[in-house]
Amino acid sequence: MDFELTKYVRKAGCASKIGPGDLADVLSGLDIPGDENVLVGIEGFEDAGVYKLTNDIALVQTVDFFTPVVNDPYAFGAIAAANALSDIYAMGATPKTALNIVCFSIKHFDKSILKEILRGGADKLAEAGVSLLGGHSVDDMEIKYGISVTGIIHPDKIIRNEGAIAGDVLILTKPLGNGIINTGIKSDMVSKASVKRVIETMAELNNKASRAMLSVRTHAATDVTGFGLIGHLKEMIKENIGVELFPDEIPYFEEAKELVASGIIPSGLLKNRDFYKNNVVGECKDFMDDIIYDPQTSGGLLIAVHLDDIVAFEVKAGLLGLNFWVIGRFLDEPKGMIMLNSSLSQW
Ligand code: CO
Ligand code: CO
Repeated sequence: MDFELTKYVRKAGCASKIGPGDLADVLSGLDIPGDENVLVGIEGFEDAGVYKLTNDIALVQTVDFFTPVVNDPYAFGAIAAANALSDIYAMGATPKTALNIVCFSIKHFDKSILKEILRGGADKLAEAGVSLLGGHSVDDMEIKYGISVTGIIHPDKIIRNEGAIAGDVLILTKPLGNGIINTGIKSDMVSKASVKRVIETMAELNNKASRAMLSVRTHAATDVTGFGLIGHLKEMIKENIGVELFPDEIPYFEEAKELVASGIIPSGLLKNRDFYKNNVVGECKDFMDDIIYDPQTSGGLLIAVHLDDIVAFEVKAGLLGLNFWVIGRFLDEPKGMIMLNSSLSQW
């Protein structure tokens, strides 16, 4: 399709999330009444909220929507759906139902564009075995699309973003750098082959990663999205534990490296680095210092797996056809810190 969706994203960087510091400021003032059935609430920046219905079943809820990251409306719809579902998978839950969120101006754009966006989303939901129940639309010049997803989980089986212990292996299931590539797409600087590859990766469900982690002793997990690898890793360790990263093992899109060299840096990347850099010690290659802060759309899962279960994880991943990379390990000290260790290429 010739219509270039990303041309309709305002230039001021509004497409990115509110930065982590500002978000914490805003949320800290809210007075939220307690309820004993809330198993996971807004504290702790978890991927989704969890509400216990019975001793065997809890609801898992999340919502995510954003402006177009790619030009193809169908691909945008599929990516937005995969991205929204990801928070359910990251908690080890099973997504069940969904509601569409649409901002679109019928006066200004052809209806067929919205139809394609919704078709992309619906196909992805069908692939995930999720029922679309409805949605809500707003007339808006700036196109936005996303989904609110509800899943289920056993109340004792919730996988949170914290809970990793020293010795655990850190696994990542998708390459990084899609924020840089998406920024390049807005300036027509990305090759067709790279656009195709990055779309396929962003539209890929994290269901296989979720199944693989549920088959072994997984202590914690989250998905890599707007706060980048370092930001989401910081949410996993908080001030409880440390982690060592092996920069040479971190997968990334080759073209992201070239784009960074020609000055393509997403504004969210700079915000992330500014906010999280004091939690990082050690050095890595120039472009890798951008990759690790790059805000991701529909990134992979970050999983803390018991050291003795890494082989079992590998076997399961092989059966499922899941790609994964061992990119680090958790340590007792220094607490709250992410250490870059380029000299170690093996765990
Ligand atoms: Co998430
Ligand atoms: Co989210």
